Formats: sequence, structure tokens, C-alpha cells
Amino acid sequence: MKTLLEVKNLSVSFKTFFGEVEAVRNISFDVGSSETVAIVGESGCGKSVTANSIMQLLPMPPAFFKNGQIIFNGKNLLDKSDKEMEVVRGNEISMIFQDPMTSLNPTMKIGKQIVEGLIRHQRLSKSEAKKKAVEMLNLVAVPEPEKRVNQYPHEFSGGMRQRVMIALAMVSTPRLLIADEPTTALDVTVQAQILELMKEIQNKLEMAIILITHDLGVVADMSDKVIVMYAGQILEEGLTDEIFKAPCHPYTIKLLASVPSLNMSRNEPLHSIDGTPPDLYIPPKGCSFYDRCENAMKICKDYMPEFHSRSATHRSRCWLNHPMAKDSERGES
Ligand SMILES: Nc1ncnc2c1ncn2[C@@H]1O[C@H](COP(=O)(O)OP(=O)(O)O)[C@@H](O)[C@H]1O
Ligand SMILES: [Mg+2]
Repeated sequence: MKTLLEVKNLSVSFKTFFGEVEAVRNISFDVGSSETVAIVGESGCGKSVTANSIMQLLPMPPAFFKNGQIIFNGKNLLDKSDKEMEVVRGNEISMIFQDPMTSLNPTMKIGKQIVEGLIRHQRLSKSEAKKKAVEMLNLVAVPEPEKRVNQYPHEFSGGMRQRVMIALAMVSTPRLLIADEPTTALDVTVQAQILELMKEIQNKLEMAIILITHDLGVVADMSDKVIVMYAGQILEEGLTDEIFKAPCHPYTIKLLASVPSLNMSRNEPLHSIDGTPPDLYIPPKGCSFYDRCENAMKICKDYMPEFHSRSATHRSRCWLNHPMAKDSERGES
């Protein structure tokens, strides 16, 4: 599979009154052209900042890119002007959010919003676009699309709005769809239908998906690869099977254990790990999970673990079983 997106050594900070918050710290990962990559981790670990960095939707200031590259389709997005980024956002990368009202215009009929997108991105005539808008609502399983195109967003239920938002995100036939907790606010059945829909659309168009969710059941169903983030870093990354069957970072193991059973995980935030993540004003020198880790050793406190590969596709940032951690340095914490 061709690599579509390469995030390389990306660090993103916020300048605040109290100092610099290091929200994303030196992360690197790839997304293949038809791959679904899940990003998981507790609230505040940098998932949305990562997604919004790719889209360049962060408020600047206070946010700034400290380091790194975001190579999309061979070009570094961080070198692009605002105007060039607008073209990328409109045509090649689409994003859907937890709250559909962030992408829908409340004062415009749904049909008109889709039609305008189609005219702009696919250069269709008005009558072609109107026909296509109905087809797209059909594709996202909105019943009675001929009637629905003439309604306003407030006339749709939450689940239906989410579908419309997906249809809108698809008008440009993007190469990459970024979904930031797209179904968190929805009930379980609707959630499953929407995700199924995203998969179907992905199969029809060759499209990569970055899926941010705290729902590990969804991750197991949907993703090819999983990235586990904590305190702005990637602590573990692997194929979905590797992460679920052979997790190696104690944080990943805790995350998986915090879900009583995959079928019960829907809509439950990941909150059952004792303790809180570290302060990102002064990130820890050593492992960021040190304070909460049952396996913590002496070395973990002072030295940030380097990645250790378990397989060509599976790596984790942990001193436990790390070949570079000498036995003498392990010690009790
Ligand atoms: N506008 C902001 N100003 C200052 N800090 C911010 C801002 N937005 C996000 N952050 C910091 O970035 C961290 C990561 O946030 P975010 O990516 O939204 O987390 P999540 O993983 O829940 O999506 C937060 O813990 C916060 O410290
Ligand atoms: Mg978020």
C-alpha cells in the first residue's frame, strides 16, 4: 500500500499565560492510502491537537509548530500557505467532528450546502449537483432524501445530522478522512450504523481514515493499525491485532483492561486508570507514564524510553524488556 500521510517528529505547543504547554511531543506515524488508523488515549493526551495539526485548524497563536513535518502526498503541509491549505482541506482531506453543527450551516438548507460543495469541488452544474446531493444523502442512508434536501439542520436528529456531515465531508472525494470522536454523542445502534457507513464509503472510494475514539470496540472493528497516545507522545503503535492480542506498554495494557468487555465499551469514556496524566507545562524527564505505572523501575524516572520494536509493525516506548536497559539500571523505583 502507498503511504499517503507521514507525520515526522511533530511537536506542537501552546503559548499560554503560564508558560508553554507541550501538547504533542515528537510523534511520528504513517497512514497508507486505504488504511484506517485509530488514535486512542485518555482525554487531553493530544489526539485532537494531532488531527487539527494535519488540517492546520489550530488557533495560531497560541498554538505553534515547534518541530517536524506533515508530508501528505509527497508535500510538507507545514510549508503550505493558508490559501494552499484551504485547497487541501476542501479537496483532499476532510474532517468530521463530534458535533456536526461545527460543519453544518444552521441557516442553510441541507441540500443547498451539499450542492454548493459539489459545484465548488466537482465542478458540477447546478442541476447535476442537485441530483447528486440526493444520491449522497441516499448513500449515507438518510431516508426520503428528496424531501430532506429542503430541510434545515435543526430538523434532523443527532444521528441524521452526523450522516449529513459525513455526506458533506465526502463531496470532495477526499483521500484522507479524519474523524475526531465522530460518534461519541450518539446511541449505540446509530453509532454502529454510521461507522459501517464510513467503512462502506471507504471501500467504494480509495480513502484513508484517521479515527480518533475512546471506544476500543470500534477500534477493534474498524482499524488496521492503532496508535496509543499519552501525554502528547506515542507510547505504542501496532497492527490492531498486535495491540489487542499482545499489548506491551503498561499503559496500553491498562487501557485495554479498563474496558470490561469489548461489547460493553460503547460510549464509556476511558477513565478507570488510577491517577492523572502529567502536567504538560513541565513534561517529565523520564517516561511520561512513570507515576501511574505498576511496573515502573528506577531507569524510568530519569530516562525517556526510546522505541523498541516488537515486529516490523509493532513498537513501544517502554524500558520493560527494552534491550538497552541494563539490569543494573532497572532497580526498584
Ligand atoms: N487552546 C489551547 N490552549 C492551551 N492548551 C491547549 C489548548 N488546546 C489544547 N491544549 C493542550 O493540549 C493538550 C491536548 O489536547 P487535545 O489534543 O485536545 O486532547 P485529546 O486527546 O483529548 O483530544 C491538552 O491537555 C491541553 O493541555
Ligand atoms: Mg479531542
